[in-house]
Amino acid sequence: MANSILTPDARALADERAAQPVIHHEPHGFSDRFALGFTKLLRFSADTFFAKRYGHRAIVLETVAAVPGMVGAMFTHLRCLRWMRDDEGWIRTLMEEAENERMHLMTFIEIAKPTWFERMVILGVQGVFLVGFSILYLVSARTAHRVVGYFEEEAVTSYTLYLQEIDEGRSPNIPAPAIAKHYWKMADDATLRDVVLVVRADEAHHRDVNHGFASSLGGKPDGGLTIAPYPAHATELRTVA
Ligand SMILES: [Fe+2]
Ligand SMILES: [Fe+2]
Repeated sequence: MANSILTPDARALADERAAQPVIHHEPHGFSDRFALGFTKLLRFSADTFFAKRYGHRAIVLETVAAVPGMVGAMFTHLRCLRWMRDDEGWIRTLMEEAENERMHLMTFIEIAKPTWFERMVILGVQGVFLVGFSILYLVSARTAHRVVGYFEEEAVTSYTLYLQEIDEGRSPNIPAPAIAKHYWKMADDATLRDVVLVVRADEAHHRDVNHGFASSLGGKPDGGLTIAPYPAHATELRTVA
């Protein structure tokens, strides 16, 4: 399908814009509001660019989603070295998040193929986002984690809409790619719908973890915050031949 950035489907666009996260962290203070505003701006751009092309949307957005965990892990690692302090498990959590997002990408690349234009967008966006997110993390790690929390709220919404597309027959419910069946330890007859469900569960988990990190960096740990359960993942990412 041609890129619809110049001629977006008006109805699809209206549906996208109307969708709101089910679980939402109420912003408190400038840092949260900045994070939310930034997220909404990116959401607006993603909706305009992709409308209902969820496979393509997933690919491009997962190339972005896999960046913050690695950036956060690296800067946390360096800070712990400088201050000779324990990381309280944050580094591995963030590195695992980056790996998990990369596995989302490796899964969706089996389902949709990015156009050359999208590949160019991915290159440009990675450069800008890596630099921008790194600067943000150095200036305010709290805001950076809040941004990820809000991104993940949007990711959950987006995968919910993808499920709706599959359930209403507009996207074919094809068999799950082998890489996904292995990584999420799914049954042999698993389908795309099953994949979207576990990916959405991953995003919900990242959402709660990152909101929790942001709150604790802001000196207000979310004591009673429940963290959405994380699906089981294979420790070996590839099937052994
Ligand atoms: Fe993801
Ligand atoms: Fe995510």
